[in-house]
Amino acid sequence: MRHTRIIVTHYGGPDALQVLEEERPEPKDGEVRVKVLAAGVSLPDLMMREGIHPETPPLPFTPGWDLVGVADRLGDGVSGLEPGQMLAALPIRGAYAEFVCLPQDELVPVPSGLDAAEAVSLVLNYVTAYQMLHRSAKARPGQRVLIHGAAGGVGSALLQLGRLAGLEMYGTCSSRGASAVSDLGGVPVDYRDQDFVKEIHRLTGEGVDVVFDGIGGTHIWRSRKALRPGGKVVAYGLTSSLREGRLASGRSGRRQRFRELRIFGLYIAGGWLLPGRKRVVPYSIQWLKRLRPAQFRQDLIALFDLLRQQKIKPLIAQRFPLAGARQAHELLGKGGVTGKIVLVRDGSSPGPGAA
Ligand SMILES: NC(=O)c1ccc[n+]([C@@H]2O[C@H](COP(=O)([O-])OP(=O)(O)OC[C@H]3O[C@@H](n4cnc5c(N)ncnc54)[C@H](OP(=O)(O)O)[C@@H]3O)[C@@H](O)[C@H]2O)c1
Repeated sequence: MRHTRIIVTHYGGPDALQVLEEERPEPKDGEVRVKVLAAGVSLPDLMMREGIHPETPPLPFTPGWDLVGVADRLGDGVSGLEPGQMLAALPIRGAYAEFVCLPQDELVPVPSGLDAAEAVSLVLNYVTAYQMLHRSAKARPGQRVLIHGAAGGVGSALLQLGRLAGLEMYGTCSSRGASAVSDLGGVPVDYRDQDFVKEIHRLTGEGVDVVFDGIGGTHIWRSRKALRPGGKVVAYGLTSSLREGRLASGRSGRRQRFRELRIFGLYIAGGWLLPGRKRVVPYSIQWLKRLRPAQFRQDLIALFDLLRQQKIKPLIAQRFPLAGARQAHELLGKGGVTGKIVLVRDGSSPGPGAA
């Protein structure tokens, strides 16, 4: 039996995404073949396509950090799972496919009755937001936080979870995202028209307790200036390495990767050495999952429970079929997207010229 998956054929723009038809993969011992119902589309996917994300695999590869699907075939030695059971995973790559084989210990059961696109939004974006809030920042009710890119995938998750945690929230966004940010309980700050450091000090006086900075590079330094003494920047992304979804600098992927990691290291060291008691701490979902897999599982299960109780409601910007992966990347690259783009099985057609 055949299936479809998307491959990146060269590091570059959305045209690097191609549709491949091949035999369905067979699960090895200890693996489960998952029929993918929903795969998330995120900026880390675009960065891997451009070859600048630290997790970028060699070519050709199938992108896709997060998925929700159903167990389709169990390999030898798999126990405790039933065919047809709904499951989630964060494979980091490979989710843009109709079928994926994964080791059983990568799979987290999804409570029945949840929408697959909403459930998949929790796997990368909400776990990232939850762990940064509760494990990195250890945010307490009443604290003030600044969330950059607050209308985006991780940003909107931070707002929903921050509201539940009783935080006072400020969120940078372009004018297109301002109403979404205020609907989710944040005070929007237009990053294109306003100096966010001045604006935060005007609004709060001494600054915020925590800044969540997914923009990266020299932006982290400005985020540090928005802190009150004793505050913390949680640095977790490199949105500034892309412009309109393409490489922002002329540097090749590998050179860009090393440059960004050096800048990151300098800021973390500077946070400790400079006066003002303001720290910069890095966060990486993939490293936390590798080092503490039980925490990842526990946090994702807690989030599924919040979704089941309707305490959170992921914003789905748009659903595309798998063959529309190229359009999905083009849309995310253009910017102005509120929430998460999801590739869904049996999604509506994106029109001619699909990847
Ligand atoms: N460390 C981790 O474990 C981890 C996990 C997940 C994601 N990430 C990182 O998190 C970042 C966000 O990912 P995502 O999937 O949520 O992306 P996204 O959905 O595209 O959201 C990014 C948002 O940032 C906004 N933005 C762009 N430039 C900005 C600036 N200079 N100041 C303030 N906002 C700005 C965009 O707004 P407009 O489009 O309106 O301009 C957009 O709403 C990426 O860098 C990604 O690599 C890290």
